[in-house]
Amino acid sequence: MPNASLMDKRLSVTLKSQSREETFSLGEIFGQTAKGGKVIALIGDLGAGKTQFVQGLAKGLDVSNGTVNSPTFSIVQEYEGRLPLAHVDLYRLENLDAIAELGLEDYFDEAGISAIEWADKGEAILPKGRLNLYLRDLEGDQREIVIQATDSQHQSWLAQVSQNKTVLPLIDSAKDSA
Ligand SMILES: Nc1ncnc2c1ncn2[C@@H]1O[C@H](COP(=O)(O)OP(=O)(O)OP(=O)(O)O)[C@@H](O)[C@H]1O
Ligand SMILES: [Mg+2]
Repeated sequence: MPNASLMDKRLSVTLKSQSREETFSLGEIFGQTAKGGKVIALIGDLGAGKTQFVQGLAKGLDVSNGTVNSPTFSIVQEYEGRLPLAHVDLYRLENLDAIAELGLEDYFDEAGISAIEWADKGEAILPKGRLNLYLRDLEGDQREIVIQATDSQHQSWLAQVSQNKTVLPLIDSAKDSA
């Protein structure tokens, strides 16, 4: 028999987004269903839709203080919602020593939600338990989004979102074209 517990901990889901709005809605559903202490690592090229997703996430968390954008001057931006949201963008980061100085562990340890754009630049300092969200630009406005959970807590969250009636069609449309 395959090692079921190991497989469970690597649950992954593939979706297809057809528009900016669909990627935003996906983020929103994650925000609505989020419990504290979760981390989302966003990986994908310029313009893949990472910030769109985080904007939806903020809406789903009822963030009211400000609009989520890619932070220009700071690497971390904090928002207050139903749970605190830390939006991190590692794009401009020069090296790992610079990451260490940011004290990101404080955000990850907290009861809030952390979303990290360009997470692949800081892999070494990310918590082991998280969602990895890989966004890939297909033709036009289409994006393939692969979401992988690396521990049981994030797996439960992903499973819950995957059963949402708004998200199910995005999973089906990825299957259709596979
Ligand atoms: N299906 C889609 N999902 C998300 N964004 C889309 C989609 N189709 C088109 N877009 C457009 O692609 C752009 C995505 O920009 P966004 O800032 O979210 O990218 P990003 O991954 O955060 O890039 P960066 O690495 O520069 O921060 C927006 O202009 C958005 O309108
Ligand atoms: Mg961005």
